[in-house]
Amino acid sequence: MMETVLFVGPVVHTKKEGMIEILDEAAVLIKDGKIMSVGEASSSLDVKADKIIHLQDGQLLIPGFIDCHIHAVQLPNLGIGYDRCLMEWLEKYTFPLERKYSDVEFANRVYDTVVEQTLNAGTTTACYFASLYGKSSVILAEKASKYGQRAFIGKVNMNAPRDDGYCETTEESLQATTEFINDISNIDNPLIKPVVTPRFALSCDMDLMKGLAKLAEDKNLLIQTHVSENLAEIEICKKMYPECSTYVSVYEEAGLLTKKTVLAHGVHLEDSELEILKNRKTSIIHCPTSNTCLRSGLCDVKRLKSKGINVGLGTDVAGGHSVSILDVMRSALQVSTHLAFFKKGYEPLNYIDVFYLATLGGAKALAIEDQVGSFEPGKQFDALIIDTNKPNGPLNNLSEWTIEEQLQRFIYSGDDRNISQVFVAGHQVK
Ligand code: GUN
Ligand code: FE
Repeated sequence: MMETVLFVGPVVHTKKEGMIEILDEAAVLIKDGKIMSVGEASSSLDVKADKIIHLQDGQLLIPGFIDCHIHAVQLPNLGIGYDRCLMEWLEKYTFPLERKYSDVEFANRVYDTVVEQTLNAGTTTACYFASLYGKSSVILAEKASKYGQRAFIGKVNMNAPRDDGYCETTEESLQATTEFINDISNIDNPLIKPVVTPRFALSCDMDLMKGLAKLAEDKNLLIQTHVSENLAEIEICKKMYPECSTYVSVYEEAGLLTKKTVLAHGVHLEDSELEILKNRKTSIIHCPTSNTCLRSGLCDVKRLKSKGINVGLGTDVAGGHSVSILDVMRSALQVSTHLAFFKKGYEPLNYIDVFYLATLGGAKALAIEDQVGSFEPGKQFDALIIDTNKPNGPLNNLSEWTIEEQLQRFIYSGDDRNISQVFVAGHQVK
């Protein structure tokens, strides 16, 4: 039976960049997980629904958060190693941890926690890096499926030789990725999709990247990798690929830049690289918590946007210190404000901008804006009920605010205690 549910109360979302739509008293009709209509509550009183949910005082409905870049495997390292920059941090903390995922019991435990914690923080869609190990990475997909999260799952590809054995040959890498893609399709859950995941240009050679680009094209899959995160990394990239003038042109040469490609960081991109990304319709994933923790730099989102590039947000756990996209939104605001301190006439991002990045901007980056990111008829109901009136939460109740002010308060001062219910495709997952 198809159940219909009517949500009645304040709704805030972005239909396009730079603008929020606020419905003080809306009615959102859901059927079989899909949004049927969004209107004023007064004109929806005669709508028949199996269930009517009235939001309480201080509650509002917003779209679910989209984390476009998170390393599920790195959760155990959350909060450590930030005394190192990227290349050292990878060697000292990250690769040794990732090797442990050859143990599927360990993978089981960590992945349970990852999906539980991200859903609790309001992440309704996550684009995950798992590990090098295909069978172990399938477990992450099974966990997302079990808990009801919408997720893209990537088995990591690395064929640059390493002494510790955390690498594959080109043939092994392509073979294991093909198997991984088949294993994911056997989970048979439309919310769970594979994503082709060359780690970055420094851990793959051109042959492997070309093979992976072809695989993604043949199977029409998303691609994710890292770009231009750290100055030392960029130097190594230029030495490894002397025939390519920039980091982005390495990926262009490999055929990895599509409208379904997400590139994490992009802190130090040159104008010529932005031009290529714009033409390829490739998105950048802004990871400000990570860029600060690993001392990578201040990414100028306003510049990316002004060059016509779509941007989403990523926690980049465990480069970033938190699984919460809300923390990332706040960090994006702070980084942008810090940039404005030394750029004359620079208007930093505001809370409406980061709300867009966390919802519809992320949906666009992952090429799912026809399915999620805002409340429009025909889209899936991925949503959060925000409760600004939680006695034990960080927000006080000492005055009265408009709906827009409630959203602002939540973005600047709220936390997961204020995310009281989470829905993915109409199913309550928190
Ligand atoms: N570049 C290559 N691998 C990684 C990673 O695991 N984290 C971050 N932040 N950057 C990377
Ligand atoms: Fe990353």
